[in-house]
Amino acid sequence: MKTTVYYFTGTGNSLWVSKGLAERLSEKTGMSTDFCRGETELIPIAKVMRNKNPVKCPKGAVGIVCPVYQCGIPLIVSEFIEKADFKLPDYIFIILTYGSHTASAEDIAYDQMKESGRAPDYVNKIKMADNYLPLFTPPSGEKLDSLMKSAEAELEAVAADIAARKKKIPKSGIFADLITKFMYGDLRRKGHAKDKKFHADDSCNGCGTCEKVCPVGNITIENQRPAWHHNCEFCFACLHLCPKKAIQYKNSTKKKPRYKNPEIKISELMRR
Ligand SMILES: Cc1cc2nc3c(=O)[nH]c(=O)nc-3n(C[C@H](O)[C@H](O)[C@H](O)COP(=O)(O)O)c2cc1C
Ligand code: SF4
Ligand code: SF4
Repeated sequence: MKTTVYYFTGTGNSLWVSKGLAERLSEKTGMSTDFCRGETELIPIAKVMRNKNPVKCPKGAVGIVCPVYQCGIPLIVSEFIEKADFKLPDYIFIILTYGSHTASAEDIAYDQMKESGRAPDYVNKIKMADNYLPLFTPPSGEKLDSLMKSAEAELEAVAADIAARKKKIPKSGIFADLITKFMYGDLRRKGHAKDKKFHADDSCNGCGTCEKVCPVGNITIENQRPAWHHNCEFCFACLHLCPKKAIQYKNSTKKKPRYKNPEIKISELMRR
């Protein structure tokens, strides 16, 4: 049975999970792994959303893989869930990558899909490096190696569940719901204009990498500096992948190390 994974990623964690799932599901079900043409297909949500045509998800297993943002899911993923037709898939899974706490993010993903007409069969999460730089310092060296190892073990277990078509429906408590209501409410209220707090400092050399890695084309280079156009997904790819560490979020990110998933190449994160 064919598996189709729709993914959204900023710094590569969710792409790493998507690729890992594709490999493992192909092994476990005896199918060949071919990211574009074979039985396990990976499709960037940002690319699907650039296209105005309706989205009809295919038969077989269909998955959504994306990061947790403010205890919810990225706005573009909500918009994708609203836009796509999920009538054909036999089995639907959602895997969230996260860094610290998800509160009720899994419930948000489950409920949004249920409201769009088809409840998912399986919702789970995988802990990875936290790329929310204003609050966290991403791990490196041995700490990152050990986090990647535990993420790999979680990925293995999730792939086995999906191959066995297991069911997993989230149910968070009242406290988690309250946190999500507050945090995710803020993201939904401010929407795509949260980029107003990004700026490039004097170390910017106008190289244009930020423009290329923005998954939604929200950046242009004007007078050798990035300009943000308020269609932001808040993925932090521009900030983390700038080779000069020139992009800052308010004053909270200066001198902090940047993050990219160690097993994903920057070329894989360009205009997906
Ligand atoms: C704007 C923003 C908000 C985030 N909010 C949360 C959060 O509420 N809980 C959490 O555990 N991680 C949070 N994170 C961390 C990411 O979910 C995590 O690092 C994820 O694996 C990044 O995936 P990516 O590399 O595919 O972009 C946030 C990251 C960003 C950029
Ligand atoms: S990637 Fe960094 S250095 Fe290059 S244009 Fe953007 S902000 Fe400037
Ligand atoms: S502007 Fe930066 S944070 Fe916003 S979507 Fe583009 S890369 Fe992500």
